[in-house]
Amino acid sequence: MFRDELVSSAQWAADYLEQVERGPVTRQLPGELRRRLHAGGMGEEGGHLFEVLDFAEESLAPYPTGNGHPAFFAWINSPPSPAGVVAELLATAINATCGMGEHALMDLERGVIADLARLAGLAESTSGVLTSGGSMANLLCLAAARHWFFEQRGASDGPEYDAAHSRLIAYCGAQAHMSVAKACAVIGIPRSRVRVIPTTPDRCMDVTALADAVRADREAGLLPFCVVSNLGSTPTGAIDTPAPITAVCREHGMWHHADGAWGGLGIQVPKWAPAYQGIDEIDSLTVDPHKTLSVPVGCGAALVTDPTRLRAAFGFRASYLDSDEHLPWMSEYTFELTRPGTRAFTLWATLHQLGRSGVATLLDHYDRMADHLRARITDHPDLELLPCGPLPVVCFRVRDLTSHTALAEAIQSQGRAYLATVDYNGETVLRACICNHRTTPTHIDTLLHEILTTARQLTPR
Ligand SMILES: Cc1ncc(COP(=O)(O)O)c(C=O)c1O
Repeated sequence: MFRDELVSSAQWAADYLEQVERGPVTRQLPGELRRRLHAGGMGEEGGHLFEVLDFAEESLAPYPTGNGHPAFFAWINSPPSPAGVVAELLATAINATCGMGEHALMDLERGVIADLARLAGLAESTSGVLTSGGSMANLLCLAAARHWFFEQRGASDGPEYDAAHSRLIAYCGAQAHMSVAKACAVIGIPRSRVRVIPTTPDRCMDVTALADAVRADREAGLLPFCVVSNLGSTPTGAIDTPAPITAVCREHGMWHHADGAWGGLGIQVPKWAPAYQGIDEIDSLTVDPHKTLSVPVGCGAALVTDPTRLRAAFGFRASYLDSDEHLPWMSEYTFELTRPGTRAFTLWATLHQLGRSGVATLLDHYDRMADHLRARITDHPDLELLPCGPLPVVCFRVRDLTSHTALAEAIQSQGRAYLATVDYNGETVLRACICNHRTTPTHIDTLLHEILTTARQLTPR
């Protein structure tokens, strides 16, 4: 019976989430299982639903990425929020597409977008669309920026557009996420026309260097159209304060997109808020609720101060899709037509459970955990803290260690904690990201214990 299978699955999920911490953070996938998974397993005859549950329990759950575990510190991947787990199931049962038709989940998406924009401190006019994640949000905003740029010039198509397109220049900081260059490539701007602006000693975009680069490009007859700044750089957690970058954009007729995939809501933390000065004047923002808010994976957002610009880029219409001109469907703001309603509902449920103050408390929790880790590193003679933050990314090295890559791999395979490395000014060092509401000082202490004991084993005496 479907009902029994569904109830058993829900119970299994509850048990799984309760016991995650008791198991290893992750485990090596046995070679034989990997071969079986790669081979595909579809039989001639159909199977039973209970077998799906068995398969999840035996073949999938024991080998996760590890991000559900509170001692996971690699990358910016959080565990699922309890509200998100419940809402994902319910939204899947409803199975609405948030691309077409008029229905409650489409309106809910409009509402959660408004909530996100308010949480981020954006201008009141802001709207946008949910995406699969930060990469897609960056792509949508860059496409909107390019469309807007050509509209200003009165040439959004035809030979003049073609000729001008090959002179477009985008700018980003040296700490920009790789999805920025990828998004540029997708909209036809190769790497050679993405200028990487150096950073200041506090790892932020050097605004003077930006202004100089834009001026030089204009003098060379090129067309600077967009700057992508960071609200939370991926390697070290630096924040580019929006106001001075927007000023450069306004002077030169450019769009300012801020990539806040994981730091976009940081204005909610009083300690970080001053760095967000001018966020209400940027043109667009990426946020990733599936990072810092723990909404289940597959939930990002592209927020645009003037949403008609997003619609201008993506509002293609067709006779078989009869939307209301005055209340556009969400597919008119994005590349996707059929889109999951799970994004809107899991985000709504997570925000509902947290409330505004809960969001601030959650981000503050990450900050306190990062401070705890930084203090422990600073206190230990064998460890060296590298400049990082203010967002909860902690970069550090073990003194006299030959390979931090070997250290991270050894820790990963031991299963008691998990962290990764990052390139820091040409050197591979350790990087711990904190975005798990279940992480406590005890987990951080476990991580440090693992690092120190494993480093000793790796260091020749
Ligand atoms: C600053 C930044 N932008 C974009 C992304 C890409 O987001 P996603 O993985 O959701 O596509 C990341 C991912 O870590 C990020 O840190």
